[in-house]
Amino acid sequence: MSDRILIIGASGQVGSELVTSLRKIYGETNVIASDIYPVNSKLRAHSTVIYSKKMNKRGPYIELDALDKNKIYHIIKSYKINQVYLLAAMLSAKSEKNVELAWRLNTLSLSNILLLSKEKHIKKLFWPSSIAVFGHTTPKKMTPQYTIMEPNTVYGISKLAGERWCEYYFNKFNVDVRSLRYPGLIGWKSAPGGGTTDYAVNIFHQAIKTGKYQSFLSENTSLPMMYMPDAIRATIELMEAPVEQVKIRSSYNLAGINFTPKQIAAEVSKHIPNFEMSYKPDFRQEIANSWPQSINDSFAQKDWGWELKYNLEKMTTDMIINLKKQYKITA
Ligand code: SER
Repeated sequence: MSDRILIIGASGQVGSELVTSLRKIYGETNVIASDIYPVNSKLRAHSTVIYSKKMNKRGPYIELDALDKNKIYHIIKSYKINQVYLLAAMLSAKSEKNVELAWRLNTLSLSNILLLSKEKHIKKLFWPSSIAVFGHTTPKKMTPQYTIMEPNTVYGISKLAGERWCEYYFNKFNVDVRSLRYPGLIGWKSAPGGGTTDYAVNIFHQAIKTGKYQSFLSENTSLPMMYMPDAIRATIELMEAPVEQVKIRSSYNLAGINFTPKQIAAEVSKHIPNFEMSYKPDFRQEIANSWPQSINDSFAQKDWGWELKYNLEKMTTDMIINLKKQYKITA
C-alpha cells in the first residue's frame, strides 16, 4: 500500500504548495490536507471529505485544530495515515504580539504528534524549524550547524525547544522525525502571514500592482531567504532520504539566497524600471537584527545531497512572470 500522508496546517505558505507536490507523487487521495479553517477551496471543502477512490482531483481536506490530539489520532486511524507533516505554527512577528498563544501552538502541537509517533501511530514525521533558532550571540555569517543558540523571540525559543524535543524523541524512542531550519520563504502561490521575512514577498505584489513598496526592514538588512520550489524540493528530498542518511534529528541548516531589501529592490527594478523602494523599519527590524545573514548547510549537502537551484535573479524573474499572470497583467 502507498504511504498515506496528513498535512496539518495545509492552508499556509508552505502547506498549500507542499500538498500539491505530494499529491503528484503519492496520488490525490493519499494526501489529506487539514487546517483550522472549515473550507479551503483550493485544497477542497470540508463537506466532501470522506475517503473514496472516486474522489475528484483536489483530494481530501479536513477541518482540524493542530492542538486537537484526539481528532488527529482519529484521522490517523480512519485514514490509515503513516506520515505527518506538522506545519501549523505562528510566525515570528505575529508571535511577538501573541506570546502565550504562540508558545502553546508552536510547542504543544509538536509534543502531541511526537507522542503519537512514540506510540507507533505514525511512521515518519516532518516538522519545520527556522533560522529564528539563532540569536544575537550566534556567528552571523555562514552560521554553522552547531553553534551558540540564544534566540530572543518567542517564535525562535519555541522552535529551538521543538528541535531539542525532536532529537530527544529520536534518541529515546526511535521516532523518525525530520526537520529543516527554513530561511525566509518566497513564493507567488500563497501569501505569507506574520513573518519578519514577509517583506521579500510583499515587495513583488506591490511592485506589480503599484510600482512602489515601503520596506519594514532597513535597506542593508541581509537575511537568508529561499525560493519556494527549492524549499518544497528540500522538504520532500529530506523526507524521501533513506533513514541512515538522516543523521541530524534536531534540524538541518538550509542555506538559500542572501540579500538585503536594497539588493532585491535593484533586481525588481530590472523588470519594473520605475519601481520605487522606501524604508520605514518597525519592530520587525529588531527581530531581523538577531538572525543570521547567511547559513552554512554543508551537512544537508553531505548527508542527503542537498543542492540549491534558484539564485536571486532566477527567483525574481520567475516571481514576476507568475504574479503578472495572476494579476492578469500582460506587458
Ligand atoms: N520566515 C519566518 C519568519 O519571518 C522565519 O522562519 O517568521
